[in-house]
Amino acid sequence: MEQYQVGILGGGPGGYVCALRAAQLGLSVVLVEGDRLGGTCLNRGCIPTKALIKSADFWRELQQVEEFGIRAGESSFDFAKMIERKDRIVHNLVLGVEQLFRTAKIPVIKGWGEITEAGRINVETETGQVRLKVENLVVATGSTPFRIPVPGANLDGVMTSDHILDEKTLPEKLVIIGGGVIGLEFASAFQALGVKVTVVEMLPSLLANSDDEIPRRLTSVLKKRGIDIFTKTMVKEIKSAENRLITVVENAKGIQEIFSDRVLLATGRKTNLCGVNAQRLGLQLEGGSIVVDSQMRTSVPNIYAIGDVTGKAMLAHVASAQGMVAAEHIAGHQVEMSYRAVPSVIFTHPEIAAVGATEQELRTAGVKYKVSKFPFSANGKALVLGETMGTVKILANEEGVILGSSIMGPQASSLIQELVLGVEKGLNAEVLAKTIHAHPTLPEAIMESAHGILGKPLHLA
Ligand code: NAI
Repeated sequence: MEQYQVGILGGGPGGYVCALRAAQLGLSVVLVEGDRLGGTCLNRGCIPTKALIKSADFWRELQQVEEFGIRAGESSFDFAKMIERKDRIVHNLVLGVEQLFRTAKIPVIKGWGEITEAGRINVETETGQVRLKVENLVVATGSTPFRIPVPGANLDGVMTSDHILDEKTLPEKLVIIGGGVIGLEFASAFQALGVKVTVVEMLPSLLANSDDEIPRRLTSVLKKRGIDIFTKTMVKEIKSAENRLITVVENAKGIQEIFSDRVLLATGRKTNLCGVNAQRLGLQLEGGSIVVDSQMRTSVPNIYAIGDVTGKAMLAHVASAQGMVAAEHIAGHQVEMSYRAVPSVIFTHPEIAAVGATEQELRTAGVKYKVSKFPFSANGKALVLGETMGTVKILANEEGVILGSSIMGPQASSLIQELVLGVEKGLNAEVLAKTIHAHPTLPEAIMESAHGILGKPLHLA
């Protein structure tokens, strides 16, 4: 039986980061993974979707090049080649992670593992069973798409984000069930590639947890582009007839049938506890997720859990941060996981990003706050880019301390980081307003919005 100080079940952005950090800290580590390293994020989620979104954005921009004085002539695209490019990027990144493991001398046991008791993992590999004895066990088994329990959810052509990017052809019409992060990223990209997209959401608005303004503005942008959006609408059934799918929905207007070639289920994800034997181990669960403390310890000594299985924010960067905390705690460091400043980013067009409190959260909590909004239409670089839609919104307390922010607009996913630092460190908006920002750049919109908290932005009439 092989023995290690740390054994990790699952090689996604939680597990593999935890393994690398533990090895850096001098611990002997083993990682068990049944699939390729990188987990959902690298193989089926963050990276492949962003690769396709880049292709879609390129195509969208190509339609607008005349505005930039360019005559491109006849142009077309090859969806299968876009998918090939996505596969190459994923492949290269997986090879990169494998190389990191080789350099750090971390063995990866390839197979599906089962925790038989605290400190013991059995792995079924192609060459037989491997039995591991580990001092500390880290559960990093992630999550899987949640398939809504409606008739027809398992029909051919009804797929989740796990498989839709394996398709080699584009559908003519696509129904997306769920107007959350996954649904809207796919809606934005597929519409750009000419697909007729319909989004069906059961709640009154898209992106229900975002700052109120975001779903309102985004809904209007997406509708203008020709995406049909049904909110407060329940899916009753999915049927198949003559090679087409029919999604039967019900809302205040009654029952309607929506025809499409494919249906994407984007109705959230559920924790994956396969091989964990949570009950037998006595792991405390809440709503199907493993309960952890701020050092990522579960209710069972020497068993840690990180990533989507903990049911916190199901985000790759949160999983990685939790993985670092678990590794460092095992190595004897005094560490604590903080969720104070977790960025969330949505790669629609325009991009959306947020951190900290939303306006409605502050209202509900009775916190007195100031709000400032600076539009990209008043930012020189945004004009140069031809991307003037959206704003930088900052929320601060009465003293000016930044409490939250939401950005909709060009490169929002990168811009948010300045505000993440602001929320994490409890910075006053004055710090951002008085920090020199290079000109002409998009971050100047953040500086201007921060000026708005102090009084008034300079470049706004
Ligand atoms: P989500 O929770 O963001 O959205 C699911 C949506 O489906 C909700 O709006 C919900 O009301 C709706 N819904 C549920 N059942 C429904 C039904 N029967 N009919 C109509 N609508 C229904 O979950 P999503 O989009 O599947 O994403 C899963 C996780 O992955 C999230 O935690 C998300 O944050 C994460 N993710 C993050 C990304 C990023 O950081 N850019 C990209 C993709 C996913």
